[in-house]
Amino acid sequence: MNFEQEIREIIEYYAAQRNPKEQENIIAMLREIQETEGCIPLAAQELAAEKLGVKRSVFTCIMKRLPDLKEEIYSHQLVLCTGERCQNKKSMEILKAVKEELKIDKDGFSPDRKIYLKTQNCMKQCRTSPNMKADGELYAAVTKEQVLALLKKWK
Ligand code: FES
Repeated sequence: MNFEQEIREIIEYYAAQRNPKEQENIIAMLREIQETEGCIPLAAQELAAEKLGVKRSVFTCIMKRLPDLKEEIYSHQLVLCTGERCQNKKSMEILKAVKEELKIDKDGFSPDRKIYLKTQNCMKQCRTSPNMKADGELYAAVTKEQVLALLKKWK
């Protein structure tokens, strides 16, 4: 999985704390990852385990105890850019089409919870707008047709 910079930064921040292995620190990190990703992906747990120097099973135990923390539940993640430049290139139209096609709920999930959709306000790739990331991979100058074709493969 190609990690988003945001997740790496969160993990690195918590790994740099004085006592990175402390439970309070780990819980705060997991919560922040979840706020960004909608859940706590396996790949994020693996990276965090490595950086914090703990076993991944530590996270599993904590997540079992705190039911508001949710382990990865989706298979694919789609991030659509809704920054101004991408909006000028009809990114909102793509977003609407994806939401309709996948019947995305208010939390960003498809009904089977296999696909998670979120938006980002500028991916800093404005020259190639509209932009999208699918499972961490950037799709530049993407069209509605390309996105819908990709979704068909995922279904
Ligand atoms: S507005 Fe979409 S990449 Fe900048």
